[in-house]
Amino acid sequence: MAVLVTGGTGYIGSVTCVKLLQAGEEVVIADNLSNSDISVTDRIKKITGKNFSFYKADVRDKAAMRDIFAKHKIEACIHFAGLKAVYESISKPLEYYDNNIGGTIALLEIMKEANVKKIVFSSSATVYGNNEPPFSEDMEIGLETTNPYGTTKLFIEKILGDLAISDPEWGVMLLRYFNPIGADESGLLGDDPNGIPTNLMPYIQRVATGKLPKLFIYGNDYETPDGTCIRDYIHVADLARGHINAVYRVRTMSGIDIYNLGTGTGYSVLDIVKTFMKVNDIDVPFEYAPRRDGDVVTSFCDPTKAKREIGFTTEKTLDDMCRDSYNFIKKLTN
Ligand code: NAD
Ligand code: UFG
Repeated sequence: MAVLVTGGTGYIGSVTCVKLLQAGEEVVIADNLSNSDISVTDRIKKITGKNFSFYKADVRDKAAMRDIFAKHKIEACIHFAGLKAVYESISKPLEYYDNNIGGTIALLEIMKEANVKKIVFSSSATVYGNNEPPFSEDMEIGLETTNPYGTTKLFIEKILGDLAISDPEWGVMLLRYFNPIGADESGLLGDDPNGIPTNLMPYIQRVATGKLPKLFIYGNDYETPDGTCIRDYIHVADLARGHINAVYRVRTMSGIDIYNLGTGTGYSVLDIVKTFMKVNDIDVPFEYAPRRDGDVVTSFCDPTKAKREIGFTTEKTLDDMCRDSYNFIKKLTN
């Protein structure tokens, strides 16, 4: 029985496929390559020495997806596929609603047709909005999202919740990721978005490799110890491992469960920049810039539910995250 991984050649999906294959799972990837490259499939094979099936397919293309379900005995799906750029979503709301929400509904319809009713979904800490950290899964959400991307995550959570109520055969797991950084330990898989990055670590990587002159730190007058925003950064390899725990659980579950995937510790933007410089022994020039619209001041999770119920805890340190991010970008640019 196979696990279908939509968006499996993307940043988090590719590292998750490595962990799934290393855990002995059969993997089928469906990705339209809109934000990833086919060469990722070779790199996954190189790291794991294992084979898997890859389909260049859009999850909204029902005929293509139906074909995949007909060819493989799929027992569960990890649904990563979607658009994720917060700022782009503000200027392209329809594309985001169509791809993320339309894509999820199309996938669920095909899963239902194929009688595959177990799904793990990539949600986001963004759904907590301006709640008071540490964020826990039982907090009320949906009072505010600050961009269409965040709204798609909120709506998809609601849709999956309604689906789970409609039929007890559905087992749905919502994973709320905090801030994934770092790269696969091999240095072959990591985060290097097209265009000028909007996320912190890819931007630091570009400055460290001389592709951009300096980092702009958005705001140094927040009510935090050093004045910069605080986030719960999680190593992508830890995050990927969390999906193994989730798949093991979702196989036999009925209904819906929500888990935070984070470390539970917050670090400031300055902490990240200083740690990156220290562990990699490299300068990252930066300057303070005005606050960025829509940024929450402090975001970190309560990770105890994931530990208690699916046995997930993180292992990597901030040093590991910064070292692996640089190792990846050095290899890519050499
Ligand atoms: P990514 O862009 O690297 O990976 C997404 C993959 O999905 C890409 O390979 C892309 O080609 C593919 N894709 C997009 N639309 C598709 C479609 N319609 N059909 C098939 N494939 C499609 O992003 P990522 O960082 O790996 O994120 C994976 C998931 O996790 C996304 O749903 C994202 O919203 C969510 N998430 C990411 C973060 C983060 O900071 N990276 C945080 C929280 C949640
Ligand atoms: N930052 C800078 N300079 C930059 C980029 C970012 O100072 O060039 C700061 C931001 O202002 C923020 C922090 O670094 O304080 C982290 O910013 P990111 O853009 O890396 O991450 P966000 O917390 O804003 O959002 C990310 C993803 C969202 C996801 C959220 C929670 O982009 O998709 O984490 O998981 F929803």
